[in-house]
Amino acid sequence: MWLKCIGVGLVVCAIEAQMFGNLIETVRLYSDPVLSPPEADFMYEYDFIVVGAGSGGSVVANRLSENWNWTVLLLEAGKDENLLTDVPLMAALQTSSSYNWGYKSEVMKSGCLGLIGKRCNIPRGKALGGTSVMNFMLYTRGNKLDYDEWESLGNKGWSYKDVFKYFLKSEDCSKCESIDKDYHANGGYLKIQHPQYNSPILKRFLKAGSELGYKISDPNGKNHIGFSQAQATMVNGRRCSANKAFLKPLLQTRPLLQVTTRARVTKILINPKTKRAYGVEVIKNRIKYVIRARKEVIVSAGTINSPHLLMLSGIGPKEDLEKVNINVIKDAKVGHNLQDHMAFSTLAFLVNQSVTVSDASVQNPSDVLNYVINGKGPFTIPGGSLGLAFIQTKYAKKKDYPDMELVLGAGALNQDTFGTMRALLGIPDSFNERVYVPITGRPAFAIATVLMRPKSRGKIQLKDNNPLHWPKIIPNYFQNEDDVKVMVEGIKAAVAVSRTRAFADLGTRLHDIPFPGCEKLRFESDEYWSCAVRQVSTTLGHHVGTCKMGPDNHPDAVVDQRLRVKGIQGLRVVDGSVMPNIVAGHTNSVIMMIAEKASDMIKEDWRR
Ligand SMILES: Cc1cc2nc3c(=O)[nH]c(=O)nc-3n(C[C@H](O)[C@H](O)[C@H](O)COP(=O)(O)OP(=O)(O)OC[C@H]3O[C@@H](n4cnc5c(N)ncnc54)[C@H](O)[C@@H]3O)c2cc1C
Ligand SMILES: *[C@@H]1O[C@H](CO)[C@@H](O)[C@H](O)[C@H]1NC(C)=O
Ligand SMILES: *[C@@H]1O[C@H](CO)[C@@H](O)[C@H](O)[C@H]1NC(C)=O
Repeated sequence: MWLKCIGVGLVVCAIEAQMFGNLIETVRLYSDPVLSPPEADFMYEYDFIVVGAGSGGSVVANRLSENWNWTVLLLEAGKDENLLTDVPLMAALQTSSSYNWGYKSEVMKSGCLGLIGKRCNIPRGKALGGTSVMNFMLYTRGNKLDYDEWESLGNKGWSYKDVFKYFLKSEDCSKCESIDKDYHANGGYLKIQHPQYNSPILKRFLKAGSELGYKISDPNGKNHIGFSQAQATMVNGRRCSANKAFLKPLLQTRPLLQVTTRARVTKILINPKTKRAYGVEVIKNRIKYVIRARKEVIVSAGTINSPHLLMLSGIGPKEDLEKVNINVIKDAKVGHNLQDHMAFSTLAFLVNQSVTVSDASVQNPSDVLNYVINGKGPFTIPGGSLGLAFIQTKYAKKKDYPDMELVLGAGALNQDTFGTMRALLGIPDSFNERVYVPITGRPAFAIATVLMRPKSRGKIQLKDNNPLHWPKIIPNYFQNEDDVKVMVEGIKAAVAVSRTRAFADLGTRLHDIPFPGCEKLRFESDEYWSCAVRQVSTTLGHHVGTCKMGPDNHPDAVVDQRLRVKGIQGLRVVDGSVMPNIVAGHTNSVIMMIAEKASDMIKEDWRR
């Protein structure tokens, strides 16, 4: 490695860093604020540097820049959204694009056994808006008791009573129809809508719920348990990502907020003596910059990348860091406690009328025009999901505390003509040919089952000390047998929904070609479903927990209840990774809530 420095005061160094291959051509170290050149990409110093413009980071950057005395730099590795990411029905397509980091898990013994390479896809968004640019846009907040439990673990200020107002602060539900009004707000940045499509399948799904003794309820309202039409983060039938909600409206109006794309942070700079974070290293356009933070660095890089970045910067399990030659600044259980929601999305329910929606059925111009002009029609179905049900299996521990979610899909995998959904899930061609090709093109809908309260825990580990290499992702899905048992009950519940009177008039029938790897077991037996669960369950992308929050006397916790990294000054984590336990709901709005609350705490701490 050679260095050539030119310039006075402002040191511009050309570097050939072997570690980064050809990625970096120069390094700029602004050693003197006065001399940082006017045409520079960055200033010498900011009050706050936020790493990652996802669901968490977008909110934090917005709220901190409300203070006109503060300079805020938001650094995002990905790029801006486009017209395609806007289309709700095409959510799965985004996961096959460069908007996805493209991670895969390590091979495990307990799950993803029938998927391509026996590895689970771990989709994560790389964009202004982060994972909210490719997610399925379902808007749910989890269960009240989830937050009361966070608080009972010692996290003061995180009970449902405390966090509820932050859900409302973000929200604009003025276009919602069937909701529990007492639990929603108008006028916030995040726009919520129902899919703008009248579905005969949804109607029957809700009826089926009643038939089985459930309420038609608003899962974000008084009764979490029940059947409902989907609520989605959507505006005029288009995706309302964290970027569109929290960053786009600020363009031109916040001169002290700088938002930068294609900027990859490779290290948080921490003074090893004072243990204070004072800046970051970032690569943009093949140039490496060192940028300083006067007040705080806020890491919002998501549940995979935040622990990765902390470990690269010397905060993590001592033994693991030493193994890859990283100087340990703080020994901490970073990367542990990985939790996620697994989904079983491969059920297909055949019907005898064309009442379902597939990627091929929406090719007609009227559907396209209806979307483009009115923001209505099948293209507004978020990721194909029409409705939800939160239910309890026989294993549920408490009342009003669901352990299972059913998600009604407008189409099934046999109608995935272009294969985008199969690609997202990692379903091999051989599986498709065996199971779905025999019924290709026939109308079918899906009910996916989602395990709300997994007991299995995974982890993120360093492979080496190169910041541009992936970390090891070891989710340990279904390592705990109880997770399989609950999932099997969920599948039986989904099948029961399809066999209600509500669905009878469509001649609804569970597609019964057995899944490869499980053919020897009796179809529909518990053993058969257990086998299928381990073969083809896939993640819903709700990874959380790897920098978990906990009180001082809690040795496993990485951040405290104000989300400050323990033992380090000037450093917080604000994203899904801080959740001590996953909640019984989709995670986008929960992370926005966390970021709203974090922003208030940061403002409070600097007012003192
Ligand atoms: C396929 C899929 C479907 C989903 N569906 C739903 C749904 O329907 N409803 C729901 O509520 N949730 C859903 N989720 C989950 C939800 O979208 C995520 O939990 C949430 O967006 C994560 O927010 P975050 O802030 O923790 O991380 P992210 O939104 O992932 O943000 C992290 C950001 O940091 C950036 N970054 C990372 N490392 C660096 C670095 N070194 N330098 C600079 N920038 C960096 C990333 O590019 C990214 O933009 C889904 C997820 C997936 C994958
Ligand atoms: C900004 O700074 C000024 C002068 O120090 C102070 O009076 C004002 O209260 C500050 N504003 C905010 C929002 O903190
Ligand atoms: C669909 O199946 C139901 C139940 O078997 C039957 O009553 C109905 O006539 C069928 N409809 C069509 C269009 O075949």
